[in-house]
Amino acid sequence: MLILGIDTSCDDTSVSIVRDGRVILSNCIASQILEHQQYGGVVPEIASRRHCENILPTYEKAFEKANVTLDAIDAIAVTAYPGLIGALLVGVSFAKGLSLASGIPFVPVHHLAGHIAACYLSNATLEPPFLCLIASGGHTHLVEVRDYTQYHVVGRTRDDAAGECLDKCARAMGYPYPGGIAIDKLATTGDATRYPLPTPRVNGSPYDFSFSGLKTAVVNLIHNANQRGETLKMADLASSLQGKIVDILCEHTLMVAQELGYQRVAIAGGVAANSGLRETMAQRCAKAGIEFVMPSRNLCGDNGAMIAAAGYYHYREGERGDMGCNAMATKELGS
Ligand code: KG4
Ligand code: ZN
Repeated sequence: MLILGIDTSCDDTSVSIVRDGRVILSNCIASQILEHQQYGGVVPEIASRRHCENILPTYEKAFEKANVTLDAIDAIAVTAYPGLIGALLVGVSFAKGLSLASGIPFVPVHHLAGHIAACYLSNATLEPPFLCLIASGGHTHLVEVRDYTQYHVVGRTRDDAAGECLDKCARAMGYPYPGGIAIDKLATTGDATRYPLPTPRVNGSPYDFSFSGLKTAVVNLIHNANQRGETLKMADLASSLQGKIVDILCEHTLMVAQELGYQRVAIAGGVAANSGLRETMAQRCAKAGIEFVMPSRNLCGDNGAMIAAAGYYHYREGERGDMGCNAMATKELGS
């Protein structure tokens, strides 16, 4: 079964074709990063405009690369929520129009279900159940993946997402958007013990995360150093910050996996591309006797292939969108 996957939830226009939820025939992405970098983050109005311009050429490229035609497609999967509303609307309107014109059914997909499904694309034999940590620019969730289309969120951030914390700290340190990538590179040469940082906890909700206190600690460190005329070692700060975030993410995930009795743990989302997180989570899972899976690095960030993979499983369950389907800026996974 061939699924066309479309994601326009943030600053990437992506169209892909995936066979049986597992095999990528094409995964085309038109990135807008260079333009948004000038503003230090994603400008929603610019993102929507670029999606409008990019969607058709990216769609055509996806078919060319996969070497198939539209009549071979069984269903169109599109991210309908959550995300930037103007950006989502471009993908959803495109999918609805294509469905109406071609008679091919479409399936609205939750963006986080897509991030989880990226694990199926990189791990051919992976099956639910497993516990998945999703860490991206907008979300930090711990999700029980009970079945291919059954998700239960057991923990989440109460304030900033892990990626948002990395991006904002990197910006304060003078590095371009998206800062997580710059921090990852810098951290490899730094000393993680040089700048002790706090471990924020959420009172009474041990499964939840909090990252805003960590962000404030880094911003204050930079501010105080500037006032005293001191120069911070950026590689050491990057390494200390990444080390702390990785430690929080790993500690939480393993604690929840053990308490809920999961033998298999996955990571997903843009931050899952982080080399420190990939290495540390693998080591700690091995030590705890827990199987660990992750998407290949190129499938951690937003892409249409993960939406096609998730769409395949939801389509198999009989889920369909109709012309009344609308994009939504927020929506709980599993609701
Ligand atoms: O999943 P994603 O592409 O978009 C959202 O759905 O938010 O995640 C983007 C986030 C950004 O915060 C970016 O800084 C972070 O993922 N990111 C990384 C790395 N690559 C991307 N964070 C840490 N290390 C990386 N290598
Ligand atoms: Zn994402």
